[in-house]
Amino acid sequence: MFSWLEKNPFFFTIAFVVTFSIAGLVQIIPDFRKSSQPIEGLRPLTVLETAGRDVYMKEGCYNCHSQLIREFKSEVMRYGMYSLSGEYAYDRPFLWGSKRTGPDLHRIGDRSSSDWHANHMYDPNSVVPRSIMPAYKHLYTKEADFDTAYAEALTQKKVFNVPYDVDGLKTSIKLGSFNEAKAQFTEDARIVVEEMKNEQTAQEFNDGQGKVTEIVALIAYLNSLGSNRIVK
Ligand code: HEC
Repeated sequence: MFSWLEKNPFFFTIAFVVTFSIAGLVQIIPDFRKSSQPIEGLRPLTVLETAGRDVYMKEGCYNCHSQLIREFKSEVMRYGMYSLSGEYAYDRPFLWGSKRTGPDLHRIGDRSSSDWHANHMYDPNSVVPRSIMPAYKHLYTKEADFDTAYAEALTQKKVFNVPYDVDGLKTSIKLGSFNEAKAQFTEDARIVVEEMKNEQTAQEFNDGQGKVTEIVALIAYLNSLGSNRIVK
């Protein structure tokens, strides 16, 4: 019945594209509607967490780590509740990743502590014997980029209506002016520095009059992955 089609490469190609697009569209269309809607209680990232996310992107962590837990029992048992599209509502760009050389990190904030990360990022082998993850020692001295992170948060607020500075909304985060945000940034960093229990980091922070290193921002970001993002 379709032999004429098989002999016409042009129409065959069109028929092929149409047929295969249907499955793609069925999968993708609901997401255009739903993914723009944040799940209940989702808050935006703080400026410190945003700076950490930038470190995550710059260092290419997504080349080895995904942030997308699939609906398989094995994944849910290992990583926690599977990911929902509305959890990525404020993620620009998304960092789902497509390869897992290391574990999924979408809920790492619920599994590990700041001081564990502090040891692990400095020397993965010290906490995970025979780990093949690279060490990230340079993050302990380089200063985190506040200016860029602040500009990003401001863009999220102004262009994408992400709830920063919205009065009376419990999921809103205060961004404020440049100086206010900078003070909050340092304050948030102080908490992470204390949790890290790492002498070098504490020294950098205190001697440098609140110099926030990239590792501090990165750990703040890792801690935000999971239930810390949800305001109860
Ligand atoms: C070359 C691949 C590779 C890169 C790049 C990489 N990792 Fe990993 N990562 C791994 C592997 C493999 C493991 C599992 C072994 C271990 O825990 O050290 C891991 C483990 C982890 C864990 C512990 C996860 C858990 O469930 O216990 C965290 C957190 C982590 N990586 C964060 C990062 C961050 C942040 C970056 C970027 C700065 C990064 N990784 C870059 C390969 C990588």
